[in-house]
Amino acid sequence: MTIALSINGLSKKYKPDFQALSKVSLEIKQGEIFALLGPNGAGKTTLISIVCGIVNPSEGEIRVNNCDIQKDYRKARQQIGLVPQELSLSMFESVWATVNFSRGMYGKPRDDKYLEDLLRKLSLWEKKDSRIMALSGGMKRRVLIAKALSHQPDILFLDEPTAGVDVELRQEMWAMIRELRDTGVTVILTTHYIDEAEEMADRIGIINKGKIVLVNEKQALMKKLGSKQLSLELSTAIPSIPSSLANYKLELLDDGHKLTYTFNSQDEHNQIPALLKSLEEQGIEFKDLHTSQSSLEDIFVSLVGGAK
Ligand SMILES: Nc1ncnc2c1ncn2[C@@H]1O[C@H](COP(=O)(O)OP(=O)(O)OP(=O)(O)O)[C@@H](O)[C@H]1O
Ligand SMILES: [Mg+2]
Repeated sequence: MTIALSINGLSKKYKPDFQALSKVSLEIKQGEIFALLGPNGAGKTTLISIVCGIVNPSEGEIRVNNCDIQKDYRKARQQIGLVPQELSLSMFESVWATVNFSRGMYGKPRDDKYLEDLLRKLSLWEKKDSRIMALSGGMKRRVLIAKALSHQPDILFLDEPTAGVDVELRQEMWAMIRELRDTGVTVILTTHYIDEAEEMADRIGIINKGKIVLVNEKQALMKKLGSKQLSLELSTAIPSIPSSLANYKLELLDDGHKLTYTFNSQDEHNQIPALLKSLEEQGIEFKDLHTSQSSLEDIFVSLVGGAK
């Protein structure tokens, strides 16, 4: 496994008394899609801006494909593409000039074929001679992506790529990001849309108040932290939960017709047979049962909930 980006003990103080990032350490593997998930003000843009050399760190070390971003700035920066959170385009330039100029900025030789393919892939080729100001919001976002990819970076940062984007374009962008990953590009995206992280990411990091709260494979994360619920549709309604079942996390719903049992999917699985046996002893019969797993949203809320 190759590490594309390694962040070690990164801290940022904007003011002496305001710590935007505290001792963040993170390793991003080559070719993965990593989603950094966190509420407003968590420090996502700060983290990305430091890696891209826009903001200076107060402390810590960052290496991009083994190049130190401070000691070997140009080489490190060349390998990164950034799609910023805010629109940052020159409104009077044409689409073509924007991407061509950006490529030149990174010292890459002119390659019209590459840029043409890129614009075609982003459905911007027909607009190549249009001024940026004549484009729709969604097209401008796509130009930002084209600009970020103009110098063929290995690592692409997307800071809230789909904020304010309609459903259709969002799907298109997701598909495009996956395609990029399939060509070997490492993708790091920030989002506060949980479904976006759930949909896209191989791994998820959750950041809150400048600290990484958790990093895990998406699947493992959902499995490990997700509580599960067993719902039993009772054959006959019961007036209350019998006291002999008080040790289980049970809830009686639907006027006594439905009993739900919440358990951690790892620890307490083996309690289900015991619960079913106890129900039988109490003469409580059920006609149907099913389990459901909590979503990443529940996990996220339980980790950062009440933080603001
Ligand atoms: N240039 C700056 N000077 C002072 N404080 C700043 C500066 N930039 C960001 N901050 C503060 O640092 C904290 C983290 O901001 P940041 O933009 O990194 O958050 P974020 O996670 O990207 O949030 P959002 O989801 O809203 O984009 C915030 O409290 C913000 O006000
Ligand atoms: Mg941000």
